[in-house]
Amino acid sequence: MHEFNLAWLAECRRLLKPTGTIWVSGTSHNIHSVGYALQTLGFKILNDVAWLKTNPPPNLSCRYFTHATETLIWARRDETAKHKFNYAEMKRANAGKQMQSLWRIGAPSAREKRYGKHPTQKPEALIERILLASTDAGDLVVDPFCGSGTTAVACARLGRHFAGFELDANYLKVAAKRIKDELRSPRTR
Ligand SMILES: C[S@@+](CC[C@H](N)C(=O)[O-])C[C@H]1O[C@@H](n2cnc3c(N)ncnc32)[C@H](O)[C@@H]1O
Repeated sequence: MHEFNLAWLAECRRLLKPTGTIWVSGTSHNIHSVGYALQTLGFKILNDVAWLKTNPPPNLSCRYFTHATETLIWARRDETAKHKFNYAEMKRANAGKQMQSLWRIGAPSAREKRYGKHPTQKPEALIERILLASTDAGDLVVDPFCGSGTTAVACARLGRHFAGFELDANYLKVAAKRIKDELRSPRTR
């Protein structure tokens, strides 16, 4: 798993602009390897955000705490370059207070999930916040593991260009349906 993380993160670094940033989400199974790989490859870690799930599924084994958070690592391609952070937009979104690295965001709504099943579909609100924080309209966003297409939908809504990859043809179909729907009848935030 660590070799795979090193390989795909190296490809992302090759594609990024010197001022570009990357966001990777994960649970304890994978995120520590991702963090180590990012550091090994020369990225600079900017934040680790804890996404606090408002309604996490219970732990059925009863041998662990309920897994209620997921970590999002935000990292810049290079040690020294200046990255984009839309500080004022984040402060505005947080009722005028500096936004913290703990984000309380609920699971995807029934509307977001009506196109078909994906086991780890992200909430649109989570990806929208990421895009608003670290990109501007007209920027190009790449999601190498786009699943049900949440990043693509959020990019369409916020005027970002998008390129994505997905291994599973069924998830691609779900993503295509979602993107078409968003383009046909854009949702306002
Ligand atoms: C965590 S999910 C992404 C979920 C997505 N953010 C969403 O909201 O639906 C990761 C996705 O990566 C896909 N995947 C795994 N290995 C891949 C690979 N080597 N190339 C492209 N996609 C891959 C999986 O099929 C899965 O749909």
